[in-house]
Amino acid sequence: MADNKAQLVIEGAEAIELPILTGTVGPDVIDVRSLTSTGRFTFDPGFMSTASCESKITYIDGDKGILLHRGYPIEQLAEKSDYLETCYLLLNGELPTTEQKAKFVDTIKNHTIVHEQLKSFLHGFRRDAHPMAVMCGIVGALSAFYHDSLDINNPQHREISAHRLVAKMPTIAAMVYKYSMGQPLMYPRNDLNYSENFLHMMFNTPAEIKPISPVLAKAMDRIFILHADHEQNASTSTVRLAGSTGANPFACIAAGIAALWGPAHGGANEAVLTMLDEIGDVSNVEKFLAKAKDKNDPFKLMGFGHRVYKNFDPRAKVMKQTCDEVLGELGINDPQLDLAMKLEEIALNDPYFAERNLYPNVDFYSGIILKAIGIPTSMFTVIFALARTVGWISHWKEMIASGQKIGRPRQLYTGHPKRDLPR
Ligand code: SDX
Repeated sequence: MADNKAQLVIEGAEAIELPILTGTVGPDVIDVRSLTSTGRFTFDPGFMSTASCESKITYIDGDKGILLHRGYPIEQLAEKSDYLETCYLLLNGELPTTEQKAKFVDTIKNHTIVHEQLKSFLHGFRRDAHPMAVMCGIVGALSAFYHDSLDINNPQHREISAHRLVAKMPTIAAMVYKYSMGQPLMYPRNDLNYSENFLHMMFNTPAEIKPISPVLAKAMDRIFILHADHEQNASTSTVRLAGSTGANPFACIAAGIAALWGPAHGGANEAVLTMLDEIGDVSNVEKFLAKAKDKNDPFKLMGFGHRVYKNFDPRAKVMKQTCDEVLGELGINDPQLDLAMKLEEIALNDPYFAERNLYPNVDFYSGIILKAIGIPTSMFTVIFALARTVGWISHWKEMIASGQKIGRPRQLYTGHPKRDLPR
C-alpha cells in the first residue's frame, strides 16, 4: 500500500484507498472526500478529529504549546512586532517592508471613522444591553452602509472590506462602551497609533483630552496581537462557513462575533473575572475546584483547558508576563491576580487537571490586564472580537480565494423512518 494512502476495508464491500495528505508541519490528514462513493459519511461531532480546510495562516502544536502566525512564533510577534504589522502579516502572508507598513498604517487610519448614521443605530439599543449584543448588531449592519465593496469575487472589494473592518472595529468598540456609559462618543484621531487611538476613544471625553499612557497603549497592543488569530477555532470556522455561502464580509464577521460570545470560547475572559469574584478568597479555591471536577455540576474552571492545547497556551505565558509588567509599572496590587496565581498553582498540582492536560489558556490572565487598563468586564469579549477580526477576515479572504464550495455537513439520522399522517 502506497505510504501516502490509507485503506478502508468495510465488511462485504470493496476496500477503498484514501489519500493521506501531508502539510508543512503538523499531523497528516486522510482525504475522505471520495467516501461518499461508499454511501457512507464520516461522523465527528465537534470536529474533534476533522480538518475542515487547508490553510497557510496559523499553525498550533497543542502538545508543545506552539503558535505560529505565517511561521512566526507568537512570543516573538508579541515582543518585537505591533498589532498592525501582525495584521499585515496575517492578511498578506509576509511581514511588510518599511514602505508597505507605512502605507498600510495610513490606509487603516483613513478608514477609522464610521458612517455618521451608525450613531442613530446605536440609539435603538438599551443603554444596559450587553456590549457584545450591540457590537454584533452594528457590525452586521455595516453592509447597509458599504454597498461599494460587497462583491466577494472582486479582490479589491475583499481588500477594502478587510481594511474597513480592521480600521473600524476599535471605533465601534469604543462607541459601544461610551453608549453604555451615557458619555458622548469620541472621534478617532489620526495623530495617534492604533492602540493609543482606541484608548483615546474609550477614555477621553470632549471635556478633557488626557495623554494616553504609553504603558497602557503597549499593553493594549500586545493583547490585540495575542488575540489576533488562532487557526480554525469555533468563531473562525463560523466565519468560514458563513463566507462559503457568498455572504458579505460584514455579515460573516457578525456571525463570528456571535460565536465568540459563548463562555466556552471568547466569553471566557469575562467569565474568569466573574469566577474570581465568586471564589473571592484563596480559602474557597478547593471548594470551587471540587465543583469543577464534579460531573453533575456544570461549573468549569474558566480560563482553563483548551480543545487543542494540552500544554500551556503560549499566549497565556506572554499574558502573565504582561500582567506582571503592567501591574508593576502602574503600582497596582490586584488581589484578583494573587487569587488567580494561587488558583493556577493549586489546579496545576491537582491530578484531575494534570491527567486531563488542563492548563491556563489565553483568557486566564487577559481579564486582569484589561481591568488594570480600566476596561469593564462586560467589554472583555468585545476587545477579543476587535482583535480577532483580522484573523477572521484573513481566513475569509483565504477561503474565498481558494474557491471552496459551500460548506454543508451531513448527519447520522436517528429520527423516525418515513411514516404517514394518521388521517
Ligand atoms: C478560547 O479553539 C480555540 O482556539 C479557542 C481560543 C481562540 O483563541 O480562538 O483559544 C479561545 O476559546 C479559549 C478557551 C476559553 N474557554 C474557557 O476557558 C472555558 C473553560 N474551558 C472549557 O470549557 C474547555 O476546556 C474547552 C471548551 C475550552 C475545551 O473543551 P474540550 O476540548 O471539548 O474538552 P473537553 O470538554 O472534552 O474536556 C476534556 C475533559 C472533560 O472531563 P472528562 O469528561 O474527560 O472527565 O476535561 C474536562 C472536561 O469535563 N474539562 C474541564 C475544563 N475543561 C475541560 N473541567 C473543569 N474545568 C475546565 N475548564
